[in-house]
Amino acid sequence: MKENKIEDRIHIMDLDTVALDEQERAVVIIDQTKLPYSVELLHLTTAQQIWDAIYLLQVRGAPAIGVAAAMGMYVLASRYDAVTYDEFYAAFCRDKEFLDSSRPTAVNLSWALKRMEAVVVSHDKDTISQIVEALHQEALAIRDEDIWVCHQIGAYGVSLLKPGDGVLTHCNAGKLATVRYGTATAPIYLAEEQGYHLRVFCDETRPLLQGARLTAFELQESGVDTTLICDNMSAMVMKNGWVNAIFVGCDRVAANGDTANKIGTSVVAAVAQQYGVPMYICAPTSTIDLDTPTGDDIVIEERKPQEVTEMWYENRMAPEGVKVFNPAFDVTDHSLIAGIVTEYGIARAPYTESLRDIFARKQQGTADENH
Ligand code: MRU
Repeated sequence: MKENKIEDRIHIMDLDTVALDEQERAVVIIDQTKLPYSVELLHLTTAQQIWDAIYLLQVRGAPAIGVAAAMGMYVLASRYDAVTYDEFYAAFCRDKEFLDSSRPTAVNLSWALKRMEAVVVSHDKDTISQIVEALHQEALAIRDEDIWVCHQIGAYGVSLLKPGDGVLTHCNAGKLATVRYGTATAPIYLAEEQGYHLRVFCDETRPLLQGARLTAFELQESGVDTTLICDNMSAMVMKNGWVNAIFVGCDRVAANGDTANKIGTSVVAAVAQQYGVPMYICAPTSTIDLDTPTGDDIVIEERKPQEVTEMWYENRMAPEGVKVFNPAFDVTDHSLIAGIVTEYGIARAPYTESLRDIFARKQQGTADENH
């Protein structure tokens, strides 16, 4: 791995969260485990480095993981010494399966890897260098689409806000979870550009503190009025009438609208229903999985107990040997969701139909003019 570059004065909003170093053929990521105090760039060139970066959450957030995996497959494939198509395809499948095993819940990972594989399969009569170039172009297309998609989600999402609104968000579905803009933060950034002066509450998001370390950081860097709260404070903030809307991201939306997102999201949704606050899921269509019928069919990643018992403390904060349950995501029932904001419009209940409509619009390349 190339030596890490530590550039403390870099403004993260000026960097793409995931990028390709064309000359060195490396995936370049902002190491999110070092934020907010150090902006460190990692150059990834091997399958193990890319797998580790995804597993360790150095790059995280469903769309960013997808882009990193796509770029990673190009980087890896460009280094194969395969002579025949079969050798090339076998090496590709090995790496693809390996990267796909890094995290199970965010569908963007397997979605991006499948897109890259389809390129290899459809170029089976081409030379190896032509296939590699096609993979290069596909990885760049996936990146460019991510930027466009987030921008569109911002445009639809802002129609749900009024100047002066209070917004609550959970985890980080921000710029740091995508290439630029974010999904849940895109409406916030756009509203700010339009002078809405929102007040944003960020849940800190136990156990890995994506809200405190990442969302609070990027919103504050961008001049948004940001208040950090512990996860167990959101009910009070909502009861006080300080929140007009909730925007969160997602890792997989099932065909019936059930949505997996960072652990704790379903608690926010239940509390929001209690206080009459609409909860919106910001979802690129790459995160909507019509092949998964309901939330019960979504595989939920479980992570190490140490993330709960000791990771952020100088001294361990739980008794040795205590049992720990540490799921990384939970599923919010579709009945608690006011709308799913996609790049092709806002889906409303019943989601089984409205999500299919969104995909029909995607196929036709038309956005919803009603929003
Ligand atoms: O474990 P993480 O940090 O990858 O979890 C991220 C989330 O849950 C995000 O809300 C989700 O991936 C959407 S990102 C636009």
